Amino acid sequence: MSIEQTLSMIKPDGVARGLIGEIIGRFEKAGLKIRALKMLHLTKAQALKFYLVHQERPFYDSLTSFMSSGPIVAIILEGDNAIQVNRDLMGATDYRQAAAGTIRADFAKEIEANLVHGSDSPENAQIEIAFFFNALERV
Ligand code: CMP
Repeated sequence: MSIEQTLSMIKPDGVARGLIGEIIGRFEKAGLKIRALKMLHLTKAQALKFYLVHQERPFYDSLTSFMSSGPIVAIILEGDNAIQVNRDLMGATDYRQAAAGTIRADFAKEIEANLVHGSDSPENAQIEIAFFFNALERV
């Protein structure tokens, strides 16, 4: 068992569709602890920076426009194997391939507007957590 932290984002579609409580409830029911949480509206420049790893992808411009189109909720989740637990709760990036009962299978309607983001490795979790939260904001 290893206690990890991971960065979750509820994307603009999740916020606009009133799914914040539903999604956070799933995290808590799965045993993940909320260690930090904030709502903010990313600028296009901030979204471009967050998703820089995808800069060569054809969807980079569209994705970052979408991610800066409305408020998001950034969350630090903590728990045993939190990175994988969160990814299992989210389901596959493409909602059509997401396992039944996952957030994306239950609610997503598009591959881009897929409700949630979760870090994919401990290294990226640390980078993504630091993107949103300073030391004073973490418990
Ligand atoms: P996320 O887990 O935040 O990581 C990158 C995001 O890019 C992904 O979720 C989707 O929102 C988006 N994405 C991935 N693949 C595609 C695609 N083929 N077309 C459009 N958006 C995509």
